[in-house]
Amino acid sequence: MFRSRRLHLIVVLLAASVAAAQSMSDQEIESKVNALVEKMTIEEKAGQLTQLPLTPQSLELARQGRVGSFLGVLGAKQVNDTQRAVMEHSRLKVPALFGYDVIHGYRTVFPVPLASAGSFDMALLEQAERVAAKEASASGVKWVFAPMVDIARDPRWGRIVEGAGEDPYLGSQVAAAKVRGFQGKNMADPDRVVACAKHYVAYGAVEGGRDYNTVDISERLLREVYLPPFHDAVNAGVGTLMSAFNDLNGIPGVANHHTLTDILRNEWNFRGFVVSDWGAVHELLAHGTAADDTQAALEALTAGVDMDMVDGAYQDIPELVKSGKLPVSVVDEAVRRVLRVKFKAGLWDHPYSDPAREATDILTPENLETARKLAQESMVLLENKGDLLPLKKNETVAVIGPLADDKASQLGPWAGDGQAKDAVTPLEGIAAKIGKEHVLYAKGVDIPPFEHGVGAGVVSPAPPSATGVAGQESGRPANIDDAVKAASRADVAVLFVGELAGMTGEASSRATLDLPGEQRKLIDAVVATGKPVMLVLESGRPLDISWAPAEVPAILQAWFPGVQAGNALADVLFGDVSPSGRLAVSWPRSVGQIPVYYNHNNTGRPTSPDRWHTGYVDMSKEPLYPFGYGLSYTKFTYRNLKAEFIPRTIATAEANHQGTVRVTAEIGNSGHREATEVVQLYVHDQVAPTSRPIRELKGFERVTLGPGETKTVSFSVNENDLGSYDPEMRWIVPSGTYDVWVAPDSVSGIHGTFAVP
Ligand code: NOJ
Repeated sequence: MFRSRRLHLIVVLLAASVAAAQSMSDQEIESKVNALVEKMTIEEKAGQLTQLPLTPQSLELARQGRVGSFLGVLGAKQVNDTQRAVMEHSRLKVPALFGYDVIHGYRTVFPVPLASAGSFDMALLEQAERVAAKEASASGVKWVFAPMVDIARDPRWGRIVEGAGEDPYLGSQVAAAKVRGFQGKNMADPDRVVACAKHYVAYGAVEGGRDYNTVDISERLLREVYLPPFHDAVNAGVGTLMSAFNDLNGIPGVANHHTLTDILRNEWNFRGFVVSDWGAVHELLAHGTAADDTQAALEALTAGVDMDMVDGAYQDIPELVKSGKLPVSVVDEAVRRVLRVKFKAGLWDHPYSDPAREATDILTPENLETARKLAQESMVLLENKGDLLPLKKNETVAVIGPLADDKASQLGPWAGDGQAKDAVTPLEGIAAKIGKEHVLYAKGVDIPPFEHGVGAGVVSPAPPSATGVAGQESGRPANIDDAVKAASRADVAVLFVGELAGMTGEASSRATLDLPGEQRKLIDAVVATGKPVMLVLESGRPLDISWAPAEVPAILQAWFPGVQAGNALADVLFGDVSPSGRLAVSWPRSVGQIPVYYNHNNTGRPTSPDRWHTGYVDMSKEPLYPFGYGLSYTKFTYRNLKAEFIPRTIATAEANHQGTVRVTAEIGNSGHREATEVVQLYVHDQVAPTSRPIRELKGFERVTLGPGETKTVSFSVNENDLGSYDPEMRWIVPSGTYDVWVAPDSVSGIHGTFAVP
């Protein structure tokens, strides 16, 4: 009785505080922010700009009002205890903001971002981040270091797995959807969080794919490829950005006034705050642009980094101000930005987390259902000769390979608070789908760590599952003979091969893209049984599998599918769901082709490949599978493209570039099952002042069609979005003829043209 009355009271209070937070206007927030800044000592100001991990020392600093944010503090109890130190002891009681990496889910782990971007399903991505926000906030996390929106054209780079792939348009759509999912309409709602678009900027372009490295790119490439997802995150209202580790054209990301202030604040009018990446202010010493932490703090703060993550360099701010090197107005402005976000996040109304939510909001059946759906939609069918897939539920399946029953790797790197024990492995999912009597299991080989380390970000392993299927006894070393035996006794063999989760992610770049260890040997041995064999690849990047299509009839790229991996895989493999994922990144034939991406410019000799060879003499220059590619269990037809330019009738100065391109096409399902196609729209400006990419994605739509059904799909592109920078870096929309394709991927489709007057 007492409990339920208290609960009721809490609910009423929470609802009232949400309403209060919602009703606070920008003007009210500004005056509260200004009043606080007025009262602060320079030490307290520096404190607001300092983020630290939780230690006895940082807790003591927090009591003195000298910590603005903590990272890595998890669980309502620990968060509330820490917050109490601030709220009960500090002079001004400015609540701390608690941040954590929630890259693809918190406890309900979703497919890795490179995979889920390939769903092209923005509503589902938004829903997934809504789930992540709910779970993280239930655990006391109010700020997530996500979305990671770095465009990446280099699969050697381990962090390609964390982003949405190579395309700026898709990347921008994904960035905006994720910001909406995390923050909702009001980030003060207790089950929403503040998002952080990272890593600003061009981190994906590091030389040789080596992590943290140098980036040297033109202003055009920066603005046309690497900046757009950040800009769209800002337009979607993202509360914070994180600066990048890399230097850009010689200036480290954390000290880059051009990107942090000229572009972000002055051009885009971003009103939130920027946090440095882990220790990056101090790393200015290693970059060689600062002699000590004091100089590093001065460089970073004046460039536009408001909060310093973990290295404590901003504790030198009082000294910098007292010595006259740093105007206090710069400090005040940074503090205002931080406080503004804290007010918008409703921290004064509910500084504490409601511990009851940990029991009700985390890993719920609905959350898991979202994870299963997103995993289904993220898998990409690369090959399916002779329609080997879908598999029949009444046949005996040999489930083979080092990843078939590896729980931790299903989750992928940077798996939030994900627990390996929650993950459903492929073996478990298949056994649940068709009955364990139809399954034979053999691990075959282990995946050994690389010589230079497995890499960061792997969740702790869990013991293998206990499915009770026949096959390898647990505890015995992996053995190819077992795999051969299992395949020989089965009707079909499914091989789960790829990378361990820890071989991808931060500080996990690779110089080769081969299947690690003895996995090729395992595949060869199983293929030699003569049984139909298919590969399921689990990895955080495209691997070098150019040999595979000649060896096996079917290949499914499953990436790291998350907590519901096995269930989603079984749904797809046995045809309960037709695959609809598409590649968010071009798939190279060989490391030597990198970078290979679809939206490249033409050379001056594009049309005579025999004579003036613009590729390689020992290999096609085309990727093995292009961006946007992915097969289905049915066949789709594309017909009757119509494209027209519709000018805006009221011409005013502001209405410049306000026309619209309307494109329609008929998409049909000529097969025998219902399936979803990702219909893609590409354009190309035939003649422009600068050389333009041969194609650029400008729209997409997921269309579900029953057998024999046809639908007209229509796209509308704003004239302004056809534009590009002219040689003087002014944004223009050239008049003239544009090519347009409605297509199943970035290299095929039906073609038309339209003219911009
Ligand atoms: C370093 C990573 O680059 C960044 O993505 C992450 O958010 C921070 N560490 C905090 O964990």
